[in-house]
Amino acid sequence: MIRYKPIIVLLLIIICLPISLMPATASSTIDAPHLSLYDFLNITGLDFESYHNMMASASASGRYPHFLEGNRQRYEAFRARNPEIPFAAVIAYVNVNADLGFYRHIEPVRDPYEIHALVNKNFGLPSGFQPSDFVDIGTGHLMRAEAAEHFRKMSAEIRDAGLRVQVIVTFRSYQTQAGTHGRGVSRFGQASADRQFARPGHSEHQLGLAVDILQRSGFEFMTQARFQNTREYAWLLENGHRFGFILRYPNEYRHIHGYIYEPWHWRFVGVDVATAMHHEGIALLEEFYGRYLDSRIFNRVLKDLMGKTYPRIFGMDVFYDGQALSFDVPPRAINNRIVVPLRAIFEALGATVRWDAATQTVTASTDDTVVVMTIGCTFPTVNGQIVEIDLPGVVVNGRTLAPLRFVAEAFGRTVDWDAHARTASLAAS
Ligand code: DAL
Ligand code: ZN
Repeated sequence: MIRYKPIIVLLLIIICLPISLMPATASSTIDAPHLSLYDFLNITGLDFESYHNMMASASASGRYPHFLEGNRQRYEAFRARNPEIPFAAVIAYVNVNADLGFYRHIEPVRDPYEIHALVNKNFGLPSGFQPSDFVDIGTGHLMRAEAAEHFRKMSAEIRDAGLRVQVIVTFRSYQTQAGTHGRGVSRFGQASADRQFARPGHSEHQLGLAVDILQRSGFEFMTQARFQNTREYAWLLENGHRFGFILRYPNEYRHIHGYIYEPWHWRFVGVDVATAMHHEGIALLEEFYGRYLDSRIFNRVLKDLMGKTYPRIFGMDVFYDGQALSFDVPPRAINNRIVVPLRAIFEALGATVRWDAATQTVTASTDDTVVVMTIGCTFPTVNGQIVEIDLPGVVVNGRTLAPLRFVAEAFGRTVDWDAHARTASLAAS
């Protein structure tokens, strides 16, 4: 085993180096307790469709379940400026700060890992954010796993319909986006560039959930603008939602999303959300998010449903041998996985922890187990064996968080998750 160690370390460096060289997330985007859709559905026991129907019917009856008292004056002011927009939509837009102008009041994206995360000119991603679950969509382009799987299915149906599309671009890192936007400014000037390209940190391409699509048109050169006149585009408009994709920059709402009409830019938001938007005729993610997906709305609805603020909405407890562990950064769910601060959980399990800042690698050892993990890398080793995990270590508020189940099982513990009490219990297996 010892003889192989240098080879394993070399292998790990090769696998993980491109990731460890990327700048670490400088500051967290998750600095306030955040209730995700996943948390909300877990707590209420509702499925998305029931939740959506409940909210839609309340809204249709003239009540506004997404009305936030603190925004009352802004709703009135925005309504006065936009008399053509129905009041329910006015409320939704103001809830996501669409009344505040572009790039003047920027907040961190509430959870960059959420599949329906809202990224626009008022919600930005940190420079170090890069999703970790990339998969080839079948064209050599990468998207996050769930989006890639749906894109492949959609492509197959497009082909079966006798149509041909080509993918132009999917993921763009923060740095690439800075280059794209910067070149746009040099060429077209700031105002025009801002209508064509997102500033770095504000592009959905950084989420790994956006795809630019054109018709594959043989020898004919297909311009982006002409895509709107193709059968491929008509097919996407009619069917994209069944695969979780929405047209993100429609022509009629340029004043709200702030870009030119982009018939080629399709965003994966998940089948539930895309289908609900399609059936309800909601064109913009801004409106849907402000009506249904904001954690303040979940909180508000929970209060109505349960008659009180649910005491365990935020965070969760982790017990080890019956003792609650304490963490300075609370454990949370990312992609339906519980992640916990790595050092705290390793130390609770009796491991010694070493951190190598140069390679962004943490090594935790007990007498019989050594675990080596690199931030952003899904190939940790346990006793020298490379294993694959679906969610790597991530940095939140300057702490490295890693999937609880992987860490616990690496050290021979089992994890039991109680969704109602929101507690995870570790026990010797
Ligand atoms: N062209 C889109 C808006 C982007 O740069 O993300
Ligand atoms: Zn695009």
